[in-house]
Amino acid sequence: MTGSYPNTRLRRTRATGWSRALHRETVLTSADLIWPLFVTSGEGVEEPIATLPGVSRWSVDGIVARAKEAVDLGIPVIALFPNTPRELRSDDGAEAHNPDNLMCRAIRAIKDACGNDIGVLTDVALDPYTSHGQDGLIDDTGYVINDETVAVLVDQAVNQANAGADIIAPSDMMDGRIHAIRMALEMNGHPNVQIMSYAAKYASAFYGPFRDAVGSGGLLKGDKKAYQMDPANADEAMREVALDIAEGADSVMVKPGLAYLDIIYRVKQRFDVPVFAYQVSGEYAMIEAAQAAGIGDRDALVLEKLIAFKRAGCSGILTYHAAHVARLLNG
Ligand code: PBG
Repeated sequence: MTGSYPNTRLRRTRATGWSRALHRETVLTSADLIWPLFVTSGEGVEEPIATLPGVSRWSVDGIVARAKEAVDLGIPVIALFPNTPRELRSDDGAEAHNPDNLMCRAIRAIKDACGNDIGVLTDVALDPYTSHGQDGLIDDTGYVINDETVAVLVDQAVNQANAGADIIAPSDMMDGRIHAIRMALEMNGHPNVQIMSYAAKYASAFYGPFRDAVGSGGLLKGDKKAYQMDPANADEAMREVALDIAEGADSVMVKPGLAYLDIIYRVKQRFDVPVFAYQVSGEYAMIEAAQAAGIGDRDALVLEKLIAFKRAGCSGILTYHAAHVARLLNG
Protein backbone atom coordinates (compact mmCIF):
# COMPACT_ATOMS: atom_id res chain seq x y z
CA MET A 1 0.00 0.00 0.00
CA THR A 2 1.46 3.34 -1.01
CA GLY A 3 0.00 6.80 -0.40
CA SER A 4 0.69 9.87 -2.44
CA TYR A 5 3.22 12.70 -2.22
CA PRO A 6 3.87 14.51 0.07
CA ASN A 7 2.18 12.30 2.68
CA THR A 8 4.41 9.59 1.41
CA ARG A 9 8.03 10.39 0.67
CA LEU A 10 9.93 7.15 0.21
CA ARG A 11 13.19 9.07 0.60
CA ARG A 12 12.32 9.73 4.28
CA THR A 13 13.37 6.27 5.38
CA ARG A 14 16.46 6.38 3.14
CA ALA A 15 17.89 9.60 4.55
CA THR A 16 20.24 8.19 7.18
CA GLY A 17 22.34 5.11 7.73
CA TRP A 18 20.46 4.05 10.87
CA SER A 19 17.16 4.30 9.05
CA ARG A 20 18.40 2.37 6.04
CA ALA A 21 19.63 -0.34 8.41
CA LEU A 22 16.26 -0.42 10.13
CA HIS A 23 14.33 -0.80 6.89
CA ARG A 24 16.63 -3.29 5.17
CA GLU A 25 14.51 -6.20 3.90
CA THR A 26 17.25 -8.72 3.20
CA VAL A 27 20.41 -9.63 5.07
CA LEU A 28 23.57 -11.39 4.04
CA THR A 29 25.71 -13.10 6.66
CA SER A 30 28.64 -15.47 6.55
CA ALA A 31 26.16 -18.28 7.35
CA ASP A 32 24.72 -17.80 3.84
CA LEU A 33 27.97 -18.79 2.16
CA ILE A 34 29.29 -22.03 0.74
CA TRP A 35 32.98 -21.91 -0.21
CA PRO A 36 34.09 -24.04 -3.22
CA LEU A 37 37.66 -25.33 -2.92
CA PHE A 38 39.92 -27.21 -5.34
CA VAL A 39 41.99 -30.14 -4.12
CA THR A 40 45.26 -31.23 -5.70
CA SER A 41 47.76 -33.96 -4.89
CA GLY A 42 51.01 -33.66 -2.95
CA GLU A 43 51.81 -31.95 0.31
CA GLY A 44 52.31 -28.30 1.07
CA VAL A 45 51.16 -27.51 -2.46
CA GLU A 46 49.39 -24.33 -3.49
CA GLU A 47 48.76 -23.89 -7.22
CA PRO A 48 47.28 -20.54 -8.23
CA ILE A 49 44.69 -20.81 -11.04
CA ALA A 50 45.44 -18.27 -13.76
CA THR A 51 41.84 -17.85 -14.92
CA LEU A 52 40.58 -17.51 -11.33
CA PRO A 53 42.86 -14.84 -9.88
CA GLY A 54 43.03 -15.19 -6.09
CA VAL A 55 41.89 -18.84 -6.12
CA SER A 56 44.30 -21.76 -5.72
CA ARG A 57 44.26 -25.50 -5.71
CA TRP A 58 45.48 -26.82 -2.36
CA SER A 59 46.86 -30.17 -1.35
CA VAL A 60 44.91 -31.96 1.39
CA ASP A 61 46.84 -30.26 4.23
CA GLY A 62 46.06 -26.85 2.72
CA ILE A 63 42.40 -27.80 2.30
CA VAL A 64 42.24 -28.64 6.01
CA ALA A 65 43.70 -25.22 6.77
CA ARG A 66 41.04 -23.59 4.55
CA ALA A 67 38.34 -25.61 6.35
CA LYS A 68 39.56 -24.31 9.72
CA GLU A 69 39.59 -20.80 8.27
CA ALA A 70 35.98 -21.28 7.15
CA VAL A 71 34.99 -22.38 10.66
CA ASP A 72 36.62 -19.27 12.12
CA LEU A 73 34.81 -17.07 9.60
CA GLY A 74 31.40 -18.60 10.31
CA ILE A 75 31.09 -20.21 6.86
CA PRO A 76 28.94 -23.32 7.41
CA VAL A 77 29.86 -25.41 4.37
CA ILE A 78 32.76 -25.95 2.01
CA ALA A 79 32.37 -27.61 -1.41
CA LEU A 80 35.18 -29.79 -2.74
CA PHE A 81 36.37 -30.38 -6.32
CA PRO A 82 39.40 -32.50 -7.20
CA ASN A 83 42.06 -31.90 -9.82
CA THR A 84 42.65 -35.60 -10.49
CA PRO A 85 46.17 -36.39 -11.77
CA ARG A 86 46.10 -36.95 -15.54
CA GLU A 87 47.31 -40.56 -15.28
CA LEU A 88 44.31 -41.46 -13.08
CA ARG A 89 41.75 -40.18 -15.58
CA SER A 90 40.15 -42.82 -17.78
CA ASP A 91 37.30 -43.31 -20.22
CA ASP A 92 35.07 -44.67 -17.47
CA GLY A 93 36.23 -42.32 -14.68
CA ALA A 94 36.87 -45.29 -12.39
CA GLU A 95 38.97 -43.16 -10.00
CA ALA A 96 35.66 -41.62 -8.85
CA HIS A 97 34.95 -44.75 -6.81
CA ASN A 98 38.39 -45.28 -5.39
CA PRO A 99 37.90 -44.96 -1.60
CA ASP A 100 41.38 -43.43 -1.41
CA ASN A 101 40.98 -40.85 -4.15
CA LEU A 102 41.84 -37.20 -3.62
CA MET A 103 38.28 -36.28 -2.66
CA CYS A 104 37.94 -39.02 -0.05
CA ARG A 105 41.32 -38.19 1.45
CA ALA A 106 40.33 -34.53 1.69
CA ILE A 107 36.92 -35.32 3.20
CA ARG A 108 38.44 -37.61 5.86
CA ALA A 109 41.15 -35.10 6.74
CA ILE A 110 38.63 -32.26 7.13
CA LYS A 111 36.28 -34.38 9.22
CA ASP A 112 39.18 -35.53 11.42
CA ALA A 113 40.23 -31.93 12.00
CA CYS A 114 36.87 -30.12 12.19
CA GLY A 115 34.18 -32.75 12.84
CA ASN A 116 30.73 -31.20 12.68
CA ASP A 117 32.05 -27.65 12.99
CA ILE A 118 31.73 -27.58 9.22
CA GLY A 119 29.66 -29.30 6.55
CA VAL A 120 31.41 -30.86 3.59
CA LEU A 121 29.58 -30.77 0.26
CA THR A 122 30.86 -32.99 -2.52
CA ASP A 123 30.21 -32.75 -6.22
CA VAL A 124 28.95 -35.87 -7.96
CA ALA A 125 29.79 -36.01 -11.68
CA LEU A 126 32.56 -37.72 -13.60
CA ASP A 127 34.20 -34.77 -15.35
CA PRO A 128 37.20 -34.49 -12.98
CA TYR A 129 37.87 -38.22 -13.54
CA THR A 130 37.24 -38.87 -17.24
CA SER A 131 39.83 -38.65 -19.99
CA HIS A 132 37.22 -36.97 -22.21
CA GLY A 133 36.02 -34.36 -19.70
CA GLN A 134 32.34 -35.27 -19.94
CA ASP A 135 30.27 -35.70 -16.76
CA GLY A 136 29.30 -39.28 -17.60
CA LEU A 137 30.06 -42.39 -19.64
CA ILE A 138 30.02 -41.91 -23.40
CA ASP A 139 29.08 -44.18 -26.29
CA ASP A 140 30.88 -44.43 -29.64
CA THR A 141 29.34 -41.18 -30.83
CA GLY A 142 30.40 -39.26 -27.73
CA TYR A 143 26.83 -39.15 -26.38
CA VAL A 144 26.63 -39.33 -22.58
CA ILE A 145 24.54 -42.40 -21.79
CA ASN A 146 22.10 -41.76 -18.99
CA ASP A 147 21.27 -44.95 -17.12
CA GLU A 148 24.77 -46.43 -17.18
CA THR A 149 26.09 -43.09 -15.91
CA VAL A 150 23.56 -43.00 -13.08
CA ALA A 151 24.76 -46.40 -11.86
CA VAL A 152 28.31 -45.08 -11.66
CA LEU A 153 27.27 -41.82 -9.99
CA VAL A 154 25.52 -43.83 -7.28
CA ASP A 155 28.83 -45.56 -6.48
CA GLN A 156 30.63 -42.22 -6.49
CA ALA A 157 28.09 -40.72 -4.09
CA VAL A 158 28.23 -43.66 -1.67
CA ASN A 159 32.02 -43.54 -1.80
CA GLN A 160 31.96 -39.87 -0.80
CA ALA A 161 29.38 -40.49 1.95
CA ASN A 162 31.46 -43.37 3.32
CA ALA A 163 34.42 -40.97 3.55
CA GLY A 164 32.28 -38.54 5.59
CA ALA A 165 30.62 -36.16 3.11
CA ASP A 166 27.63 -34.35 4.64
CA ILE A 167 25.93 -33.09 1.48
CA ILE A 168 25.99 -34.91 -1.84
CA ALA A 169 25.61 -32.49 -4.73
CA PRO A 170 25.01 -34.18 -8.09
CA SER A 171 26.01 -31.73 -10.84
CA ASP A 172 25.71 -34.12 -13.76
CA MET A 173 22.12 -33.46 -14.94
CA MET A 174 21.37 -37.13 -15.68
CA ASP A 175 17.70 -38.11 -15.42
CA GLY A 176 16.73 -40.16 -12.38
CA ARG A 177 19.96 -39.81 -10.43
CA ILE A 178 18.52 -38.19 -7.32
CA HIS A 179 16.20 -41.12 -6.61
CA ALA A 180 18.96 -43.65 -7.28
CA ILE A 181 21.43 -41.83 -5.02
CA ARG A 182 18.85 -41.35 -2.23
CA MET A 183 18.02 -45.07 -2.23
CA ALA A 184 21.70 -46.01 -2.16
CA LEU A 185 22.42 -43.62 0.73
CA GLU A 186 19.52 -45.09 2.72
CA MET A 187 20.69 -48.64 2.05
CA ASN A 188 24.29 -47.90 2.93
CA GLY A 189 23.69 -46.41 6.35
CA HIS A 190 23.63 -42.71 5.42
CA PRO A 191 20.05 -41.62 6.16
CA ASN A 192 21.19 -38.18 7.32
CA VAL A 193 23.47 -37.40 4.41
CA GLN A 194 21.72 -34.64 2.48
CA ILE A 195 21.30 -34.22 -1.25
CA MET A 196 21.58 -30.75 -2.76
CA SER A 197 20.77 -31.30 -6.39
CA TYR A 198 22.09 -29.12 -9.15
CA ALA A 199 18.48 -29.19 -10.36
CA ALA A 200 18.52 -26.41 -12.93
CA LYS A 201 22.01 -26.39 -14.35
CA TYR A 202 22.48 -24.66 -17.66
CA ALA A 203 24.95 -25.32 -20.48
CA SER A 204 26.82 -22.11 -19.74
CA ALA A 205 29.77 -20.19 -21.09
CA PHE A 206 30.51 -19.11 -17.51
CA TYR A 207 32.15 -22.42 -16.47
CA GLY A 208 35.43 -21.91 -18.34
CA PRO A 209 37.75 -21.10 -15.42
CA PHE A 210 36.32 -24.01 -13.37
CA ARG A 211 37.28 -26.44 -16.13
CA ASP A 212 40.83 -25.10 -15.94
CA ALA A 213 40.77 -25.52 -12.17
CA VAL A 214 39.81 -29.22 -12.29
CA GLY A 215 41.88 -29.83 -15.41
CA SER A 216 38.99 -30.98 -17.61
CA GLY A 217 38.92 -27.96 -19.93
CA GLY A 218 41.71 -29.09 -22.22
CA LEU A 219 40.24 -32.60 -22.42
CA LEU A 220 36.65 -31.71 -23.22
CA LYS A 221 35.67 -32.00 -26.86
CA GLY A 222 32.39 -30.47 -27.85
CA ASP A 223 29.96 -29.26 -25.22
CA LYS A 224 27.49 -30.49 -22.58
CA LYS A 225 24.28 -29.38 -24.29
CA ALA A 226 22.87 -32.91 -24.50
CA TYR A 227 22.45 -32.95 -20.71
CA GLN A 228 22.81 -29.43 -19.28
CA MET A 229 19.87 -27.08 -19.92
CA ASP A 230 19.30 -24.62 -22.72
CA PRO A 231 19.69 -21.04 -21.37
CA ALA A 232 16.51 -20.16 -23.27
CA ASN A 233 14.32 -22.35 -21.04
CA ALA A 234 12.56 -21.58 -17.77
CA ASP A 235 9.45 -23.81 -17.69
CA GLU A 236 11.74 -26.78 -18.18
CA ALA A 237 13.69 -25.71 -15.09
CA MET A 238 10.49 -25.97 -13.05
CA ARG A 239 10.06 -29.56 -14.27
CA GLU A 240 13.69 -30.37 -13.38
CA VAL A 241 13.20 -28.98 -9.88
CA ALA A 242 9.85 -30.75 -9.38
CA LEU A 243 11.40 -34.07 -10.35
CA ASP A 244 14.42 -33.68 -8.10
CA ILE A 245 12.25 -32.78 -5.12
CA ALA A 246 10.00 -35.77 -5.78
CA GLU A 247 13.09 -37.98 -6.05
CA GLY A 248 14.41 -36.89 -2.66
CA ALA A 249 16.49 -33.72 -2.97
CA ASP A 250 16.70 -31.86 0.36
CA SER A 251 17.57 -28.63 -1.41
CA VAL A 252 18.01 -27.50 -4.98
CA MET A 253 20.52 -25.38 -6.80
CA VAL A 254 20.26 -23.02 -9.74
CA LYS A 255 23.44 -22.54 -11.73
CA PRO A 256 24.92 -20.21 -12.89
CA GLY A 257 23.66 -17.46 -10.63
CA LEU A 258 23.16 -13.90 -11.71
CA ALA A 259 21.93 -14.52 -15.26
CA TYR A 260 19.32 -16.90 -13.82
CA LEU A 261 17.74 -14.82 -11.03
CA ASP A 262 14.35 -15.31 -12.67
CA ILE A 263 14.73 -19.06 -12.29
CA ILE A 264 15.72 -18.73 -8.63
CA TYR A 265 12.72 -16.50 -8.00
CA ARG A 266 10.29 -18.82 -9.76
CA VAL A 267 11.60 -21.91 -7.98
CA LYS A 268 11.31 -20.24 -4.60
CA GLN A 269 7.79 -18.95 -5.26
CA ARG A 270 6.56 -22.24 -6.61
CA PHE A 271 8.21 -24.88 -4.41
CA ASP A 272 8.74 -24.20 -0.73
CA VAL A 273 12.21 -25.70 -0.66
CA PRO A 274 15.63 -24.30 0.16
CA VAL A 275 17.18 -22.87 -3.01
CA PHE A 276 20.88 -22.20 -3.51
CA ALA A 277 22.65 -20.30 -6.26
CA TYR A 278 26.07 -21.12 -7.62
CA GLN A 279 27.88 -17.92 -8.50
CA VAL A 280 30.15 -19.75 -10.91
CA SER A 281 33.78 -19.34 -11.89
CA GLY A 282 33.11 -17.03 -14.85
CA GLU A 283 31.04 -14.74 -12.65
CA TYR A 284 33.86 -14.58 -10.10
CA ALA A 285 36.42 -13.95 -12.83
CA MET A 286 34.37 -11.09 -14.27
CA ILE A 287 34.33 -9.29 -10.92
CA GLU A 288 38.08 -9.77 -10.55
CA ALA A 289 38.60 -8.52 -14.11
CA ALA A 290 36.49 -5.44 -13.40
CA GLN A 291 38.56 -4.73 -10.29
CA ALA A 292 41.84 -5.24 -12.18
CA ALA A 293 40.70 -3.00 -15.03
CA GLY A 294 39.70 -0.25 -12.63
CA ILE A 295 36.08 -0.28 -13.77
CA GLY A 296 34.47 -1.53 -10.57
CA ASP A 297 35.10 -2.01 -6.88
CA ARG A 298 35.37 -5.70 -6.01
CA ASP A 299 33.85 -5.47 -2.55
CA ALA A 300 30.87 -3.39 -3.62
CA LEU A 301 30.25 -5.54 -6.72
CA VAL A 302 30.36 -8.79 -4.79
CA LEU A 303 28.12 -7.63 -1.95
CA GLU A 304 25.55 -6.26 -4.40
CA LYS A 305 25.44 -9.50 -6.35
CA LEU A 306 25.18 -11.67 -3.27
CA ILE A 307 22.36 -9.64 -1.75
CA ALA A 308 20.54 -10.01 -5.09
CA PHE A 309 20.58 -13.78 -4.62
CA LYS A 310 19.15 -13.44 -1.12
CA ARG A 311 16.50 -11.01 -2.36
CA ALA A 312 15.49 -13.44 -5.11
CA GLY A 313 14.88 -16.11 -2.47
CA CYS A 314 18.12 -18.02 -1.99
CA SER A 315 18.95 -19.70 1.30
CA GLY A 316 22.61 -19.45 0.42
CA ILE A 317 25.19 -18.98 -2.30
CA LEU A 318 28.20 -20.95 -3.47
CA THR A 319 30.86 -18.36 -4.22
CA TYR A 320 34.63 -18.32 -4.63
CA HIS A 321 34.50 -14.97 -2.83
CA ALA A 322 33.11 -16.65 0.32
CA ALA A 323 36.12 -16.14 2.61
CA HIS A 324 36.68 -12.59 1.41
CA VAL A 325 33.00 -11.71 1.86
CA ALA A 326 32.84 -13.32 5.29
CA ARG A 327 35.79 -11.16 6.34
CA LEU A 328 34.01 -8.07 5.02
CA LEU A 329 30.77 -8.95 6.77
CA ASN A 330 32.48 -9.82 10.03
CA GLY A 331 34.30 -6.50 9.92
C1 PBG B 1 31.02 -30.39 -13.03
C2 PBG B 1 30.82 -29.02 -12.55
C3 PBG B 1 31.01 -27.82 -13.26
C4 PBG B 1 30.86 -26.80 -12.35
C5 PBG B 1 30.52 -27.37 -11.12
N1 PBG B 1 30.50 -28.75 -11.26
C6 PBG B 1 31.43 -27.57 -14.66
C7 PBG B 1 30.70 -28.13 -15.77
O1 PBG B 1 29.56 -28.58 -15.66
O2 PBG B 1 31.30 -28.16 -16.85
C8 PBG B 1 31.05 -25.34 -12.68
C9 PBG B 1 31.37 -24.45 -11.53
C10 PBG B 1 31.97 -23.15 -11.90
O3 PBG B 1 32.08 -22.76 -13.09
O4 PBG B 1 32.36 -22.43 -10.97
N2 PBG B 1 29.98 -31.16 -13.36
